[in-house]
Amino acid sequence: MTTTLSIIKADVGSIAGHATPSKPLLATVHEHIAGAVGGLISDFFVGVTGDDIAILMVHTRGVGDEEIHHLAWDAFKAGTRTAKAQGLYGAGQDLLIDAFSGNIKGLGPAVAEMEFDERPNEPFLMFGADKTEPGAYNLPLYLAFADPMNTSGLLLSPEINQGFRFRVMDVNYTQGDRVIELDAPEELYDLAALLRDNDRYVVESIWSRHSGEQAAVVSTQRLHNIAGKYTGKDDPVMLVRVQKDFPATGEILAPFAVAHYVGGFMRGSHVGPLMPVRDGTKCSYFDGPPIVCCFGFCVHNGKLTDAIDPFDHPFWDTVRTRAAEKAMEIRRQGFSGAAMLPYSELEYGGIVNIMERLQPRFEIKAPATPTAIVG
Ligand code: F6R
Ligand code: MG
Ligand code: MG
Repeated sequence: MTTTLSIIKADVGSIAGHATPSKPLLATVHEHIAGAVGGLISDFFVGVTGDDIAILMVHTRGVGDEEIHHLAWDAFKAGTRTAKAQGLYGAGQDLLIDAFSGNIKGLGPAVAEMEFDERPNEPFLMFGADKTEPGAYNLPLYLAFADPMNTSGLLLSPEINQGFRFRVMDVNYTQGDRVIELDAPEELYDLAALLRDNDRYVVESIWSRHSGEQAAVVSTQRLHNIAGKYTGKDDPVMLVRVQKDFPATGEILAPFAVAHYVGGFMRGSHVGPLMPVRDGTKCSYFDGPPIVCCFGFCVHNGKLTDAIDPFDHPFWDTVRTRAAEKAMEIRRQGFSGAAMLPYSELEYGGIVNIMERLQPRFEIKAPATPTAIVG
């Protein structure tokens, strides 16, 4: 059976700042999507990461389907009405236009979709990250799909040993989708050269070179490219098929133990460690730290099993403690150097105003004539 998985994610309001959606808001979104089961969709799941709501829909209509996108849009619109009625902060903030126009891409919400022929058993993982950007998945995906130090399947499994094709998008290019395809392992250094730059080059999808099957897809939308100004961070979602022709669940999860530093955190303008968290974790310290959560499923004949929460395990408590230490360590240096994102990536315009105001006050002086300080 050919199945499509579509995740569409948006922040349409939260309690106490940009922390977490309310129960009535979630119930509204849930109810709206549930009404489509048996019609447009065969099953669904609603996950929360920080202030974001991610709707996973199972259907047979393929990727980019207008009616599926419309369904999610209407669910977020209905959620926004609840958020406004409750006075939630940032109600409707990720819905950048008033009317839906065919495809949700470019309208604010993040989208990650994949169509495939269901294997007899089809395990997959859904990830959601908050207070960070799509490039936050670059390193975990590189390690999981291209590094035998992480994924022993690259050595041990004949199927996985044939490597993977990475499709990488230049997310600074706004006229269309500017992508490049690189094969691992032959082009590993080229791949690393791109993926070091999380702000600009983002893994969009990964494909098995053994079967040609798609393994992963990441939402690559950048809100500030779309809106031209700050409207919230890009908070990416991702789908990864696992096992057999693909890395095992544990090989996909393992790189998140690095809790690597990513862009985002407070005001989308800082650097912080990506902390793997349990379902339902809110944002807190310095509006963060950047968090990632995961839901694991099997899909069969268009129906989902219950979701499991792979980061709800004692192992990840140690990682969380380390991530908290990394967060506090980098925060000790405040605005200085590596703690804050480069000028081009700052999400708020305040500093631009300061720089523009100060520029005319700079003077070019002869080296030996400092301004006299004392009369
Ligand atoms: C980051 C984020 C928050 C806000 C911050 C200020 O993605 O959402 O850190 O940037 O709380 O929010 P405003 O400008 O709404 O007061
Ligand atoms: Mg968010
Ligand atoms: Mg937000």
